[in-house]
Amino acid sequence: MSSHSFFSVSLVFAFFLASCQAPAPAATALPAETTQPPAATAPPATATEMPASALPASADPSRTPTWVWVEPTQPATPTPLPAFQPRAQSANTLRAQADIRGILIGAAVNNGLVHEADYAEVLAREFNLITTENAMKFGIVHPEPGRYDFQAADEIVNFAHGHDIQVRGHTLVWQKQMPEWLQYGDWTPEQVREILHRHIETVVGRYRGKVEIWDVVNEAMTGNGDVQRNFWYKQLGPEYIDLAFQWAHEADPDALLFINDYAAEGINKKSDGLYELVEDMLARGLPVHGVGMQFHLDSGGAQNLDSVTRNMQRLADLGLQIHITELDVALNDDPTPEDLQEQADTYQKILQTCLALPQCTAFITWGFTDKYSWIPETKDGYGSALLFDATYQPKPAYFALLETLQTK
Ligand code: XIL
Repeated sequence: MSSHSFFSVSLVFAFFLASCQAPAPAATALPAETTQPPAATAPPATATEMPASALPASADPSRTPTWVWVEPTQPATPTPLPAFQPRAQSANTLRAQADIRGILIGAAVNNGLVHEADYAEVLAREFNLITTENAMKFGIVHPEPGRYDFQAADEIVNFAHGHDIQVRGHTLVWQKQMPEWLQYGDWTPEQVREILHRHIETVVGRYRGKVEIWDVVNEAMTGNGDVQRNFWYKQLGPEYIDLAFQWAHEADPDALLFINDYAAEGINKKSDGLYELVEDMLARGLPVHGVGMQFHLDSGGAQNLDSVTRNMQRLADLGLQIHITELDVALNDDPTPEDLQEQADTYQKILQTCLALPQCTAFITWGFTDKYSWIPETKDGYGSALLFDATYQPKPAYFALLETLQTK
C-alpha cells in the first residue's frame, strides 16, 4: 500500500472511530475464527452452538445428512413464533398455484417480522421461498473479526423450515453492508482471502442442507460490463468471484449458486459483461448455476421485455437458471387506482416473461407488504411498491399474479 493510500485509509478509519466511538478493530492480526464471542465481551444475543453436521465440509468427515437444530440458548426476543399452522388448503393462493406449476414464488424477509402474526400468516400462505433481506449480509452475520452472529438468520431459517418454505441466502460477497472492521481494517490481501474463505465456509456450512440457494456474489458489474473495482477486487483481483463460488460449493455441494445484479435484465452493456463472465466461468468448470435479475422498477420504468426474454434465453442456453430476485414496482406516494392497475400490469408481464421460459425458476419480490419495504426509506416520495398494502390487503398486482399463475 502506498503511504498516500495508507494515509487516506487511516484517515477514513480514524474518522469512523471518532464518529461512532467503536472500539478499534484488530487491524493487523488475523484472529482465529470462532462462533464464540471473545472472552472479554458479553455473550451475543444468541449463543447458538454450531451443530456438528453444519461445520464446514472440510471439518465434517462424517458428512451427516441430518441437520440437528440447536435452539438458541438466549433468544434476543422472548416472543414465540406464531404456532405452526397447517397450510391453507385453498388453491387460491400464489403459493398453491406456484406449487402446481413447479415454480418458486418468494419474498424478501427481515427477521423479527416473522413474530408479527399477520405478517407470518400471509408469508406462509402465499410464498414457498424466502430470501433473507438483510440477515445474512456480511456486516450482520460477521460483526467482529472472528465472531459470527446467526441469530437473525436462524430466526428466518427456522420460520421457513417450520412452514416448508425454501430459503435463498443473500448474500455472501458484496461491497455494501460490510462490517467496518473489514472495510477499514489494514488487511493484507492474504488476510482478506483467508477472511473471505472462512466466512463463506462458516456461513454456507452452517446452513448446509437448510439454505438451498445462495446469492454468492452481488452487484459485481459496472454499467459498462466490467467487473467493479470494489473492495474485493482491489484486494484479491477479479478472481474473488471464482474463489467465492468455489468455496461456497465446497461448503455445500448441493446448493444452487447465483450471481445477482441490477440493471442487467435486458440486453445492454452490463448484461453483456455479465453474460461473458458467467460463460467464461462455466467454460472453466466453475460451479455457477444461475443469474439473478433484481428488477427494482418504478412506475415510469417500463421494461423492454423482448430484450429481457432474449437475455434470459441466452443465459438459459448456457445451461443456467434465471431467478427474478428483487422485484418491486415503486409508485409515487398516494397512488391512484390507475397507478395501481399499471403496477399490476408490470408485475403480470414480468411473471409472464418468466413463466414462458422453463429455466426461469423463481419469481421473488423484495418484501410483500407496503408496511415493510425499503422503497420509502431509500426513494423519497415513492412507496406502495409491493403486492399487499400496509394492512395486508391484496392489491391489484397480487390478483394479476394469481390470475397469471392460474392461466395454463
Ligand atoms: C436493501 C435492503 O432492502 C434494505 O433494508 C437495506 O437497508 C439496504 O439493502 N439490492 C440488493 C439488496 O441486492 O441487498 C438491497 O437490500 C436492495 C438492492
